[in-house]
Amino acid sequence: MKIAVIGCGTIANSAHIPSYMKNSEAEIKYFCDIIPERAQAAVDKYGYGIAVTDYRDVLADPEIEAVSVCTPNNCHMEISVAALAAGKNVLCEKPAARTLAEAERMLQAQKEYKKVLNIGVVNRFNDNVREMKRIIDSGRLGEIYQVYVSFRAHRSIPGLGGAFTTKAIAGGGVLIDWGVHYLDIVMYCCGDPVAKTVSAECFSKLGSPISEYVYEKMWAGPPQPDGAYDVEEAITGIVRTDGPVISLNGAWAQNIGVSDTYIDFLGTKAGIRLTYGGSFRVFGTADGKLTEETVDVTKSNMFQNEIDAFIENAKHPETMLPSHVSVNIKTQRLMDALYRSAEEHREVTL
Ligand SMILES: NC(=O)c1ccc[n+]([C@@H]2O[C@H](COP(=O)([O-])OP(=O)(O)OC[C@H]3O[C@@H](n4cnc5c(N)ncnc54)[C@H](O)[C@@H]3O)[C@@H](O)[C@H]2O)c1
Repeated sequence: MKIAVIGCGTIANSAHIPSYMKNSEAEIKYFCDIIPERAQAAVDKYGYGIAVTDYRDVLADPEIEAVSVCTPNNCHMEISVAALAAGKNVLCEKPAARTLAEAERMLQAQKEYKKVLNIGVVNRFNDNVREMKRIIDSGRLGEIYQVYVSFRAHRSIPGLGGAFTTKAIAGGGVLIDWGVHYLDIVMYCCGDPVAKTVSAECFSKLGSPISEYVYEKMWAGPPQPDGAYDVEEAITGIVRTDGPVISLNGAWAQNIGVSDTYIDFLGTKAGIRLTYGGSFRVFGTADGKLTEETVDVTKSNMFQNEIDAFIENAKHPETMLPSHVSVNIKTQRLMDALYRSAEEHREVTL
């Protein structure tokens, strides 16, 4: 299957390209990036493929069956919709889009052109997350009445003044960048609870003025002192659903010297703490005593699983993966409500 990778930056080089290369059925034909040197660098590094700068050249090639969209968020909708219209199957990086309206346009195009549109919510292909979902589905936790989500870092604003902190490009800050993964895990493991009311507040206190921001290291950097910083660096929120109450605290930056990145599933019979990207612990009771079990069933690479599943899915576009846009739109809807509540400083009823 001939593939094109559109956007040859961090996630393309660290995850998509190596995973396609390990899939025996896939062959990358194009490396596309608006920065010509980046497309060419990929060709040079991997030793094959054609470097292009305009994604429309890729879509015009009838040999291409599937594309990865690894560009910043502001291009996700445009490129994904154009690719679907050109009859290509699409794996678009997370978040689906900057706004709910853009994500809905993508969903509409998927329905219209009947090709695959999966979103890069890669934790759904993570062995530990899948095992955790299996345990939750078995009923071992009893009624899950609260889920507490923490995606907090000490000083970790990405590329301050660049694409990640410019609302017109990214659509938002820590919620849309990190929170999207955490909320996706909650939705996946709790059976897509439907939000009823949402309340949130967002903060941007430490990153501005850009020139005065103090940090240890900066991913997606260096800082651009004349760039934009109009997204949230921190968020707190509470979501009442028809299932558990979801409370969340996220921060790219805060004046606390720890990073707390986990999700707690609190049930009447047992609870689980998932360390994000790692193992999880199950806390319960047995024979009148407290129990604690650490689970780590990691056998495979989640990005490889995601790409392998996408290739298989592209051969059968009528089938649906758990990362399908029609599933992911629920998380986008939730993020939209959180942002609306924060903007209006009041609870939003859905
Ligand atoms: N799944 C994950 O865990 C994960 C991790 C990191 C990033 N991401 C997502 O991946 C996307 C890219 O992030 P990144 O960190 O790789 O960014 P990046 O800036 O390193 O790479 C993006 C690349 O896209 C190119 N580009 C921009 N517009 C383009 C266009 N119209 N056509 C072709 N190329 C274009 C840029 O020149 C750049 O090289 C973002 O949406 C981000 O949220 C996901």
